Amino acid sequence: MVIGDSGAGKTTLLKRIVANRAEFQPYQDRYGISTSPLISVVAPSPCTLKQLGREVLRALGYPLSREIKEHMVWELVRQQIRIRKVMFIHIDEMQHAVNTLNDTERQKLSDTIKNVMQQPDWPVCFILSGIPTLARLVSSDVQLMRRSRIFEFSNLEFAKDAVSVRKMIEHMVTKHAEMQLASALPDEFIHRLLHAAYGRFGVVIQLVRGAIEQAMFDEAAGGQVKARHFAAAYSRFSGCTEDENVFLRADWQMLQPSAALVRDRPAEEVSPAPKRRRKV
Ligand SMILES: Nc1ncnc2c1ncn2[C@@H]1O[C@H](COP(=O)(O)OP(=O)(O)O)[C@@H](O)[C@H]1O
Ligand SMILES: [Mg+2]
Repeated sequence: MVIGDSGAGKTTLLKRIVANRAEFQPYQDRYGISTSPLISVVAPSPCTLKQLGREVLRALGYPLSREIKEHMVWELVRQQIRIRKVMFIHIDEMQHAVNTLNDTERQKLSDTIKNVMQQPDWPVCFILSGIPTLARLVSSDVQLMRRSRIFEFSNLEFAKDAVSVRKMIEHMVTKHAEMQLASALPDEFIHRLLHAAYGRFGVVIQLVRGAIEQAMFDEAAGGQVKARHFAAAYSRFSGCTEDENVFLRADWQMLQPSAALVRDRPAEEVSPAPKRRRKV
């Protein structure tokens, strides 16, 4: 299980691991048939056990056109993973399944997962990722908990992570973008950045990239990334006014940062909000 708040970086991390590790790579079996040891799906929302099974079947290349019973869907999943030699089933946004179900249905879900994991002739591993409510799935089932390993993303904190966040910003600006930082980053700036990003690793990266982009289009900046570019990036992502901008307000600690950056949806879909202007 990979658990972390929205924007922590779960999906990106798993994509990278799947792309890089040998055991997840597709291969040709001895009959020349292309075989993929891992399939990846996103749990639909809302999501019943049957819908989840249909989604897994679709990823297995076995889409169902007709209505069939829930247990038949999962029977087909068990059959198809064996035929297609799938060894890992990754389900992202798994909290959609957990949140939608009542206690009985949730127990059925964990029983189904256990059954598929433990098929005597073809056992598989599940990789389940999602936000912290997903943990309810294992906390209510001791057998599943015993069979699980949990990797948890913790949010970044100033006291613990300021040094590495500062290094990361410097690296992104000087190495990735080949630009310069206008000045050394004071502690307070890092604090504001972590506050604006709710401490989420991925959101920090998005904000830094956004600031670099602002600097690139700012001819007057002369290739330097300045504090005002962070403010502009934040305002673009969140649609906030100057008055609500964590990078501009003196009493920024009192501001609730914009939730637009950490909404529970794939980050790829997050498009910059239109800029609202209001005279202060
Ligand atoms: N390791 C990383 N390297 C570069 N960018 C990252 C990394 N992790 C996260 N990001 C950025 O943060 C955004 C949010 O991360 P994502 O993986 O979608 O988070 P989650 O799945 O936990 O909600 C991504 O779209 C990406 O831009
Ligand atoms: Mg994600």
